[in-house]
Amino acid sequence: MKVSIIGQGYVGLTISVFAAEHHEVIGLDKNQRVIDALSQGKSHIEGVDSSDLAKYISAGKYKATTDASEIAGSDVVVIAVPTPLTKDRKPDLTFVVAACKTIGENLKTPALIINESTSFPGTVRNLIKPEIEKYSGGLVGHMYAVSPERVDPGRTDWNQKNTPRLYAGLTSEASTAVRDFYSSFCDNLVEVSSPEVAESAKLFENTFRQVNIALVNEFAQIAHALGISVYETLDAAATKPYGFMKFMPSAGVGGHCIPVDPSYLADTAARVGVPATFIERANEVNLEMAKYVVGRVVADNGGSLKGKSVQVVGVSYKPNVADVRETPAEIVIEELRKTGARVTWSDDLVSSWMGESSTPLGGSDIAIVVTLHSVTDPAAVLKSAPYVFDTTGKVIGAYSL
Ligand SMILES: NC(=O)c1ccc[n+]([C@@H]2O[C@H](COP(=O)([O-])OP(=O)(O)OC[C@H]3O[C@@H](n4cnc5c(N)ncnc54)[C@H](O)[C@@H]3O)[C@@H](O)[C@H]2O)c1
Repeated sequence: MKVSIIGQGYVGLTISVFAAEHHEVIGLDKNQRVIDALSQGKSHIEGVDSSDLAKYISAGKYKATTDASEIAGSDVVVIAVPTPLTKDRKPDLTFVVAACKTIGENLKTPALIINESTSFPGTVRNLIKPEIEKYSGGLVGHMYAVSPERVDPGRTDWNQKNTPRLYAGLTSEASTAVRDFYSSFCDNLVEVSSPEVAESAKLFENTFRQVNIALVNEFAQIAHALGISVYETLDAAATKPYGFMKFMPSAGVGGHCIPVDPSYLADTAARVGVPATFIERANEVNLEMAKYVVGRVVADNGGSLKGKSVQVVGVSYKPNVADVRETPAEIVIEELRKTGARVTWSDDLVSSWMGESSTPLGGSDIAIVVTLHSVTDPAAVLKSAPYVFDTTGKVIGAYSL
């Protein structure tokens, strides 16, 4: 089949290489720099090997392009564009609407259109279908479906092949078509009764994580006030063989999913008149964690950081990826600068960020570990400053949550 994937980021590129094993894939992205690198077989996404890309390019199974007319004649089109929040934390579907315009204007033969971008229930039925039809200049007879993405960048044990994938079509014909497509590279497909269930399940999965992370972050503060170790307490609770799932405290949440998706659910809740109090409070607790961490460091250092040099270690939002979207390190740095501290950062995977460069580990009065990559030696981090505060629980001997 000819498969076009709109958006060649974390989700779209990952799907592209799995699909290219079985289909002819067009990877469309509006970012020329991304397309230039991909066309040379250079992957910018953890978990996607450049050697795989190069192999599929030379076999004629994968082509990266900014030219939207290349999607003409596709059998399947997958939408994998960002779904961020607006400044006032409302769903921002401008990228999805732009992708619909691209599809409507360039795809004039019937195809299966699948949305993998995370969005609120009703997006495929009430937004994607009408938008594409608006730009098609008449009904082309496309089938529409949703299959929310569950990729966890950098993870190797669960991948596209073995992670169960939810799906639902707007019609039974679309459900069958979407199953046929994914079964070429995914072992475990789970059909649900409507696109709205699939869309809601994705939002609930990430809201579940967000709320539980907030709970453990709040508990870390309680444990510290009690003078007990949050980590030992969590290990103790985790000996219960049922009814408990361990979440780890941190400086906050980051990435494109956990800080964002719950707000899509909260927005939907508001539209149907249900208060989403858990979601809103969880957001607040996670955002306040950076301030709490800085407060602890200030308290341990004589009540002021004015003039002190502080190095933040690890600025990506999670270990072993270079992704800095919505990273809690940004709020930690902001809070530190408010105290009058001189702040630098060091990250073995991120070389530049927010117009600044990563600095070599060490040389500051204080180090605060936000993210610890596998390639970063915890012993070296412990020795990097006279005072080290660790939010990851991995730097043994440091001050910790
Ligand atoms: N990153 C994850 O771990 C993850 C996991 C599950 C779901 N998701 C969801 O998948 C979707 C995509 O996320 P991502 O992390 O891949 O984003 P990303 O930012 O890594 O990639 C998106 C790509 O889409 C391109 N793009 C934007 N608008 C376009 C358009 N109109 N036409 C062509 N290209 C366009 C951008 O240039 C970018 O390269 C989001 O809805 C996200 O919530 C992400």
